[in-house]
Amino acid sequence: MGPPAHGLAAEPGGLSASRGPRRYLVSGLDTLLAIASKREVRSYEDRAIGDDLVARILEAGRVTGSSMNSQPWRFVVLASPEVRTAVAETLYAPANLTGAATAIAILVSGGRTADFDAGRAAQSMMLAASNDGVGSCPNGVADRERFAALVGLSEGERAAIILSFGYPARPRRAEDRTPGEWMARARRKPANEVVTCLETTAPP
Ligand SMILES: Cc1cc2nc3c(=O)[nH]c(=O)nc-3n(C[C@H](O)[C@H](O)[C@H](O)COP(=O)(O)O)c2cc1C
Repeated sequence: MGPPAHGLAAEPGGLSASRGPRRYLVSGLDTLLAIASKREVRSYEDRAIGDDLVARILEAGRVTGSSMNSQPWRFVVLASPEVRTAVAETLYAPANLTGAATAIAILVSGGRTADFDAGRAAQSMMLAASNDGVGSCPNGVADRERFAALVGLSEGERAAIILSFGYPARPRRAEDRTPGEWMARARRKPANEVVTCLETTAPP
């Protein structure tokens, strides 16, 4: 295992275990507002994200629940422009990574539930980032073989998703709209297409 890519000590129990539980600033951003205002950000400012914030994002992923608490993941920070440029070529949308301030690959091992778990961790990390004004986008891997070779995946390990992060080139403040206003603007299927209330079971 190489040195921690974000410059902080990764130790059992957390990134700052030796100094006791980390103290995080808590902002007042409502959870529903954070969810409703989340949009993928693919164009980023040329500005670094501080190590503390990268650590906070990683901790949001690490602490996420998973099936039978299996924690089937590994989070790899693609910390240098050199690494991101190489890995970008394996993605469907390389520019999302080459323009990013940093990126985190979520790798998983195991069966079907591992991908669900990775999705939960991904959303946790992206919401933790947006809480601090950092935008993000999930990225799918097009060339899995090349990706595995570049990142050094172990036997049975696969990429679930690659998250790109950066301060948005066109920032938007979540607080400028209500959750309902953000929802009304989102390009999503209407509730009556995706929500059903079941009051009786289907006949046999
Ligand atoms: C599993 C998964 C893979 C994705 N892969 C890519 C990708 O390769 N490139 C990309 O630009 N966006 C990718 N996205 C982002 C989706 O396109 C995005 O979530 C969707 O269009 C909604 O965007 P919005 O929240 O900005 O409206 C992916 C999202 C998910 C959940």
